[in-house]
Amino acid sequence: MSLCIWACNPLWCCMDMRQSKMLSFPMVRSLLEEEDSQEATPYLENTHYCTAFCHNSCQEENIKNTVLILTCLLLLSHWKWSSKRGKLPPGPTPLPIISNIHQINVKNVHQSFTNFSKIYGPVFTLYLGMKPTVVLYGYEAIKEALIGHGEEFNGRARIPIFDMVLKGGVAFSNGKAWKETRHFSFTTLRKLGMGQRSIENHIQEEARFLVEELKKTNGSPYDPTFILACVPCNVVCSIIFQNRFEYKDQDFVSLLEKLNENAKILSTLWVQVCNIFHVLIDYCPGNHNTLYKNFTCLQNYLLTKIKEHEKSLDVTNPRDFIDYFLIKEMQHPHVTAKVQEEIDRVIGRQRSLCMQDRKQMPYTDAMIHEVQRFMVISPNGLPHEVTCDTKFRNYLIPKGTTIITSLSSVLYDSNEFPNPETFDPAHFLDAKGNFKKSDYFMPFSTGKRMCLGEGLTQMELFLFLTTILQNFKLKSLDHPNDINDTLLVNEFIVLPPPFQLCFIPV
Ligand code: HEM
Repeated sequence: MSLCIWACNPLWCCMDMRQSKMLSFPMVRSLLEEEDSQEATPYLENTHYCTAFCHNSCQEENIKNTVLILTCLLLLSHWKWSSKRGKLPPGPTPLPIISNIHQINVKNVHQSFTNFSKIYGPVFTLYLGMKPTVVLYGYEAIKEALIGHGEEFNGRARIPIFDMVLKGGVAFSNGKAWKETRHFSFTTLRKLGMGQRSIENHIQEEARFLVEELKKTNGSPYDPTFILACVPCNVVCSIIFQNRFEYKDQDFVSLLEKLNENAKILSTLWVQVCNIFHVLIDYCPGNHNTLYKNFTCLQNYLLTKIKEHEKSLDVTNPRDFIDYFLIKEMQHPHVTAKVQEEIDRVIGRQRSLCMQDRKQMPYTDAMIHEVQRFMVISPNGLPHEVTCDTKFRNYLIPKGTTIITSLSSVLYDSNEFPNPETFDPAHFLDAKGNFKKSDYFMPFSTGKRMCLGEGLTQMELFLFLTTILQNFKLKSLDHPNDINDTLLVNEFIVLPPPFQLCFIPV
């Protein structure tokens, strides 16, 4: 981040040529305004340096003029910004060009938003680049906007880094096109079995393949990231293409490698900078080009398959919850023991699990919800935008303003989930140990643009995770306290760190 700010900083800093030290803008101005600058005197006294001084003096004159022009430009742009704010919610004053970026900790955006919300309240404005962005922080603000004002807040904001490759489609379209695509996707996914018994069969079948694959590791240390990415992806493929892939299938392996590489690229600071300063995307080299290349390959592959099957849908990969679940299980062996005890009591070791079992497994259900709450796979959802000038609370948000919904602020609400920073399935249990639903459980967002894959993901998580624990004891290579669970956070998603563990058959 400092690099990016530094690149934009010539407006604010200039180099003192004489002493090769950095001077801040106000220092330079005061230096230049002092007609008989003390700083210049030693040079005046030394005739040997007369030529050098003349050169310096001209330079100073130039700098003075440049600074004056820049000051006017900065004041003008600041005035323009302030006047444009109109009745937007309050927020920190942006600096020209770098806007509010320097005030956001990219490694912990949630913390930065929490700090802003303490000063400006639950609805505040940030400038990320030239455009204002309104941030909704906390359950009340998000619910009021996405449900109470659903129609106005259901636009999807432009995400420049995706623009080149993901034009349209349900997630990135707006207006009539979005309504039609969403309706089509929803009804088609349902017809293909999403949220129903037929898809449950696909997931159960995939869970059996997973168990066979994990058994092959013979309890030796193993990084399950790749196989865990294959499993949910295969379910989606089985819905879309009507057939699953072998885990070693070359097409499948390269599809997943590209998805994984893209997830990593999306985590880089460079991509986030590109999203704010769009112009970099077209004119600069960088890993965003690999992102496009990979997306294009994926799209071409899907297009070939679509042509083959004449059915089109999206592939989204929710592997990260399962990885993270395993990390949490290793860190909290007592939680795993309780889940396994529940599995033994309700299902036993022989029978395959089904969704019906979930009702009788409140602790397992609570644990799966807690992983999703704790991990917050999509801390700020996907950006929305208001579809018309919108009166919200006491503010007037102009049409087209980007809206960020801080889902992490809801999932880490300390009134709803006491000690939110602690992983504890009890957040979803009542005093009697029954599963307790919470309106604050919004990892998939809420309202009209809520994630279309929620039902499928919930079903997969329950069936895959319980099947793993029904068949294996998990053994960590490190002491539970030494296990690294630091998430790799980016603007869109969160990824668990690489890890290894042993799957010991039971
Ligand atoms: C780890 C699991 C997943 C999480 C946490 C997740 C989360 C989200 C979130 C937060 C949004 C943005 C909602 C908004 O704009 O307010 C979203 C949108 C979306 N998700 Fe997911 N998702 C997951 C898996 C899936 C899967 C498996 C599918 C496909 C079967 C899917 C399909 C979609 C679609 C199509 C949208 C765009 C909806 C729209 O713009 O109308 N997601 N998801």
